[in-house]
Amino acid sequence: MAADQTLAEQLEQLRVSQTEFPACYPQLNPVDLFRVHVAKTLSDVTGLDAKTIYPLLQRTQTLEHGDLLLPVPALKVKGEKPNDLAARWAEQFPDSPLVNKPVVDAAFLRFFFKPAPLLQEVIPSILQNRTTWGTNPLLGYKIPGDAQSGRKRIVIEFSSPNIAKPFHQGHLRSTIIGGFLSNLYEGAGYDVVRLNYLGDWGKQYGLLALGFKKFGDEKALEEDPIQHLYQIYVKINQLVSKERKEIERLEAAGEDTSKVTDGGLDEQARQYFKAMCDNDPEVIELWKRFRELSIERYKKSYARLNIHFDTYAGESLVKEESQVVKKQFCVDLKRHKAQSMKTAEKKMADTGITELSQGATIVDFSKYVPGKVGKALGKALVRKKDGTSLYLARDVGAMFERNKLYEFDKMIYVVATDQELHLKQLFKIVELIGDNDLRSRVEHVNFGLVLGMSTRRGTVVFLDDVLRDVGDKMHEVMKKNEAKYAQVTDPDKIADILGISSVMVQDMSGKRINNYHFNMDTMTSFEGDTGPYLQYSHARLCSIFSKAGVSTADIEAADLSLLTEPHAINLVRLLARFPDTIQNTLKTHEPTTVLTYLFRMTHALNSSYDVLKVIGSEPELMKARLALYDATRSVIKSGMRLLGLKPVERM
Ligand code: ARG
Repeated sequence: MAADQTLAEQLEQLRVSQTEFPACYPQLNPVDLFRVHVAKTLSDVTGLDAKTIYPLLQRTQTLEHGDLLLPVPALKVKGEKPNDLAARWAEQFPDSPLVNKPVVDAAFLRFFFKPAPLLQEVIPSILQNRTTWGTNPLLGYKIPGDAQSGRKRIVIEFSSPNIAKPFHQGHLRSTIIGGFLSNLYEGAGYDVVRLNYLGDWGKQYGLLALGFKKFGDEKALEEDPIQHLYQIYVKINQLVSKERKEIERLEAAGEDTSKVTDGGLDEQARQYFKAMCDNDPEVIELWKRFRELSIERYKKSYARLNIHFDTYAGESLVKEESQVVKKQFCVDLKRHKAQSMKTAEKKMADTGITELSQGATIVDFSKYVPGKVGKALGKALVRKKDGTSLYLARDVGAMFERNKLYEFDKMIYVVATDQELHLKQLFKIVELIGDNDLRSRVEHVNFGLVLGMSTRRGTVVFLDDVLRDVGDKMHEVMKKNEAKYAQVTDPDKIADILGISSVMVQDMSGKRINNYHFNMDTMTSFEGDTGPYLQYSHARLCSIFSKAGVSTADIEAADLSLLTEPHAINLVRLLARFPDTIQNTLKTHEPTTVLTYLFRMTHALNSSYDVLKVIGSEPELMKARLALYDATRSVIKSGMRLLGLKPVERM
């Protein structure tokens, strides 16, 4: 870089040269501009290709460790020890307008950005792109950066509760994680299909229909289908277990069981389900109503969580036979042949992986997958003796169907780890059939259990009850601060939003795979890294602007060089990390990565207020600080939205 150029000219020159580097987007991610500069400068020092250095420049864990990190051993330079190379290169690193001389830490070089160019790159960029800053919609193009190539499509299957059964903890986590992933991929420019795969098929739905005939009530069904169907489900199951006990008793006594089994509830349910499979119109009509009324009810709960679905699929909709369906999601709206369970099963039979066992169709994985893995996969039932399908067969069919219908580039199943085996079997079948392309496009995003979740109604959990209980609890917590509570305009609404934030933040606090305890007291506290604390931090930040009364135009025109205090510099360094944080999350699929980032941001922010005062400071300095706070507000808000939270401005 020539010494007589202004900083702006030098930055511009770097922006132009970025095209040499793959996955480099300085217009969207200021850190990339620094990466280009460091790579080029180090290339001059070392004689190595800048393109080799560029991808090795990593993010650091914390600010104390620098803004970028180069592990020298990763460059694989022969003949000199990495520690010596690091020391020599640091020594030879020339004065730079963008970064300080690198700090040597054994075989690592740590780079710290200079404040002036960082402020200049980061703050205006955020203020000009308030709602989108941090995301990179170019990633969703089939050829990165090339709009002509079209967008990638991703199907995200999540939530997927079972009709007439409680919406349990696993469904709640799936909903939260799936909602987040949908936002994440949407921000990355993907065409996202949010798909809810309802559990709505199988013998138990035959049983439910029998139950409805015995105990059903039209009015109750219309009013609260989910509760009503569940009550029926419980009652009819009580009768079934009575029947089972009776059979056991007869068996133990060596007596004839047929008087109970023949025409018993279990047999009736099987027959009813068979009629469902055979498309008996009357039977299908009833089942459709259960399904539709339940979906309407679910939609209301999902809306409270800021979640919507593009399609309510379900086990019942997986086609037995191939059918011509409309391609809703493709631009050309061609009529299109969907694949079906039968096609999938034919493929399985052709590959020879299915076999008959006592009249049923099964896959014995141990025959095709050697060793422990095959043993662990075990045997799986695909179709029953009476010809009705099973969970696994429907999933295989659904995968092939979705592949045809959506022509997805990627499909994610957000399902609890307790179904790990099922998904492994599913993916293995695709592999054994030899469709490696399809196999490479599907992924299981798993998660652990939520322990100890119960509501006032009991340990059987319904989403609405959980949200209501947490909202009530939040309301109690808010009332404790009387003065503040008096100022809240709509306490019920705020308590509801804060309650939902509490649940979601607690859920996303750890890695997905960890189990956690559902703790209403901890999650609704304003202390610690909780939902209410995050909301409070955002609302407090918003209140600064109403008090200061400076126009947006003045804030955007602020002289950023006035921001010199370490607190201000650290805040902008953290802001600069947002795009990288999001990009990294696309790899890990961990909401906690974004959440942890936001808490770091809010901690840094809350400890800055005393130092970076707004009210009472000189007008120019005040504007500069407001610009910093405004950028911070935008990033926190975007981060919260990405996680599916509704940021409140006053509370
Ligand atoms: N409905 C299922 C359950 O609640 C979850 C569905 C998971 N997805 C799948 N493709 N099998 O257990």
